[in-house]
Amino acid sequence: ATSKIKLRVNGKEYSLQVEPRVTLLDTLRDRIGLTGTKKGCGRGQCGACTVLVNGQRINSCLALSVMYDDAEITTIEGLARGTKLHPIQAAFIKNDGLQCGYCTPGQICSAVAAIAEAKAGTASAVTADVRKQGQVELTDIEIRERMSGNLCRCGAYAGIVAAVKEGSQ
Ligand code: FES
Repeated sequence: ATSKIKLRVNGKEYSLQVEPRVTLLDTLRDRIGLTGTKKGCGRGQCGACTVLVNGQRINSCLALSVMYDDAEITTIEGLARGTKLHPIQAAFIKNDGLQCGYCTPGQICSAVAAIAEAKAGTASAVTADVRKQGQVELTDIEIRERMSGNLCRCGAYAGIVAAVKEGSQ
């Protein structure tokens, strides 16, 4: 049996019949054609599939499409405004925050949410230790902790941390 759902992705609406077992990742890539979101591990360990749902980051490989009926989903394709890159996208380019690029869409979506969480004061495991009251810029250790759900097999972490730091300013 299939269910009828309405997904709102990057400001567009898609009415779809989907099988309940299909992940949001597969629906985005295979049904809607937004292939910027990548499949790495397929089981919640690498973060390549990260997208934003109502501004919060999720691993779309662990999410069933039917759970997101009517939610507001943003993928890497939805971050730029026309030809103007999102500041985090620009910061990744400027700081060499990538090598092969496969993990980059997930890294960037995750960074957008991570910075918003930090600015909203959401605690991270290390925040209390390393961030003084009122300090805006994220420290390297806090960035590494907040971005720890996104793996980069090329090991471009130094550039990623620099990009997120610049993007958080
Ligand atoms: Fe979803 Fe790896 S593909 S976390």
